[in-house]
Amino acid sequence: MKKTTLALAAALLPLLSQAQDARIEAKIAALMKQMTVAEKVGQLHQLSGRQFTGPASSDYADKLADIRNGKVGSMLNVKGVADTREIQALALKSRLHIPLLFSLDVIHGYQTVFPVPLGESASWDMDAIALSARIAAREAAASGIHWTFAPMVDIARDPRWGRVMEGAGEDTFLGSAIARARVEGFQGKQLGATDSVMATAKHFAAYGAATAGRDYNAVDMSNQQLFEVYLPPFKAALDAGAATFMNSFNTLNGIPATGNAFLQRDILKGSWNFKGFVVSDWGSVREMVPHGYASDLADAAVKAINAGSDMDMEGYAYSQHLEDAVKSGKVKMKTLDDAVHRILVKKFELGLFDDPYRYSDAAREKAVLSDPSHRAAALDVAQKSIVLLKNERKTLPLSREPQRIAVIGPLADSQRDLEGGWVVQGERAKVVSILEGIRSHAGKAEVSYAQACASGCAGSEGFADAVATAAKADIVVLAVGETWDLSGEAKSRTDITLPGQQEKLFSALQATGKPVVVVMLAGRPLVFNTIADQADAIVYAWFPGTEGGNAVANVLFGDYNPSGKLPITFPRSVGQIPLSYAQYNTGRPVTDEKNVVYKSAYIDSVNTPRYAFGHGLSYTDFKYSGLALSSAAMSPDQKVTLSFDLANTGKAEGTEIVQLYLRDMVSSVVRPLKELKGFQKIHLKPGEQRRVSFTIDRNLLSFYNSQLAWGAEAGDFKLMVGSASDDIRLEGELKLQSK
Ligand code: BGC
Repeated sequence: MKKTTLALAAALLPLLSQAQDARIEAKIAALMKQMTVAEKVGQLHQLSGRQFTGPASSDYADKLADIRNGKVGSMLNVKGVADTREIQALALKSRLHIPLLFSLDVIHGYQTVFPVPLGESASWDMDAIALSARIAAREAAASGIHWTFAPMVDIARDPRWGRVMEGAGEDTFLGSAIARARVEGFQGKQLGATDSVMATAKHFAAYGAATAGRDYNAVDMSNQQLFEVYLPPFKAALDAGAATFMNSFNTLNGIPATGNAFLQRDILKGSWNFKGFVVSDWGSVREMVPHGYASDLADAAVKAINAGSDMDMEGYAYSQHLEDAVKSGKVKMKTLDDAVHRILVKKFELGLFDDPYRYSDAAREKAVLSDPSHRAAALDVAQKSIVLLKNERKTLPLSREPQRIAVIGPLADSQRDLEGGWVVQGERAKVVSILEGIRSHAGKAEVSYAQACASGCAGSEGFADAVATAAKADIVVLAVGETWDLSGEAKSRTDITLPGQQEKLFSALQATGKPVVVVMLAGRPLVFNTIADQADAIVYAWFPGTEGGNAVANVLFGDYNPSGKLPITFPRSVGQIPLSYAQYNTGRPVTDEKNVVYKSAYIDSVNTPRYAFGHGLSYTDFKYSGLALSSAAMSPDQKVTLSFDLANTGKAEGTEIVQLYLRDMVSSVVRPLKELKGFQKIHLKPGEQRRVSFTIDRNLLSFYNSQLAWGAEAGDFKLMVGSASDDIRLEGELKLQSK
């Protein structure tokens, strides 16, 4: 009976949604019939509210008048029930009463701040990542927000680029899984639920490959790289239902992404059949003029919309020039209508025509923003994000028995730095600092504190006091790193070593002979060679959010056994960048670091990374054994199961993220040495063992050939299973037959 009802419901669902679509279509058609060209253009115009206003937005009163007159379709940087209600009321006074869409960069939490996206990605935990996005959506949607400009799904392999902080790191497979999880988290079960916001897959496309890691810089890349490395996370976001896409500031092979019909028309709206709408990045339509792609703002408007950019964010190109462009025929009415239609569909799907205030409910805002489960989730994700880079002689976990712990460093008692960039509504006073976290977790241990130097650590005046504090202690916890404002947009750096005197501070403390545990905060991989060589333990905490101090303390005292793995390679120097585990063998690979003559190598540095993609230690040990393949060969239609045993051979409960890599040994286009093709998080008690398996099918063995056709080529594949990309524990071989 129950089964029959469920089956009936499942059969009815598509019919219901078709009926809903048809109803929406009829309403949109009726509405668009009444719209003037100016009103249509208005729907494509997005303005910024008072928060984070840009150069073009000085005259707020004019903006409000434009909203009142139906000349604006969406506002960004407006939040809170009171403000969104007030502004929505203005829009509803316009002739056709079309409601506004409110959008905001809710990147890693709204009021409850979660770890920065790169940090969360180190958890490799899709449920935790989706939950983080879900809670962000719940809070934002209770505060009047309909739409977030997240997730950023740009693959980024250059830590000089400050925006690596906003993404999922260097890997396409992991990045695609995370893109899916984030979109599903933000959008929930369905658009229009009042605990969901529309997601934006950004920045389309290839922004993460900005030349030399300099923000907004040009990108020149082969279509093969584009299709294989940079586009799949976008496709994954689309498949997960992403309602909108944002284009990007960069040129791609000479054409600005915003004016790029190949990207937006041929790929996104063409072969991918994307039905949502594309918003430009902030002013990116007008930036086509300085790029040298459009002669003036009018030309930029024409080029952007014809190339598929539907909404102009703070660019004023559409609002000032689109009407004329339609009149002169440079832009077809059909093109304008298509953009307007895409935007109106979303407004209908969100239910804004039924109730324009449904996301702006004061009682819900109050209840949701004070939900204590949100902080619990933030703590959970933060501890899962922390990566134990080094732990000599089992320095960690710390004991809570009587001992003296000196907590030192410019970031030890900071609250602001734990939040990271893109914080829109965080409650700073409630952020738990590392010092506070350690104090409240220390048990019988005694905690002392010295800041040593101020934020940035320019001067060393406080070092003597810090050294004296360390000398009186049994162990030192040193909190260093980048301050929050050194990563993010427009925060590219040529030097990614620890700022100021922080490594000197480490050396001064280490000279006391006390063990030094370094806790590092950052939004990107940093270079810290002295610490990497000499510290007793290193905990990489990224910017861990509101609950950061508790998360760090749980890891330090062993209440949480660290399980995070790096989602991006840590180089030894800027000179090695860009550096990815998925590199090519070349014709002259280095097989022996002591002999690099005429090899593809640097002669002044070890050629391996400092910490490889996938690296991360635990307080327990995992043993991999017994790799087996269900078959040594497969035809293209078959599947093969790879399995092995994973055992926890240490003394603590722990979680291992097992990683599956493969290499296509000979192919029509040379393949990387390793490509991640699977991962699982396995939790084991001491002494416990489990058989782990992965399914390998043709899709997993496929790549884009020189004709950009996706497929697998017959031949030999090396399969590798391990704890990190440079810590492969088991290997196998698989043959793909031609038929
Ligand atoms: C960024 C986007 C962001 C937008 C709106 C731009 O500068 O590149 O990622 O969503 O501003 O704040």
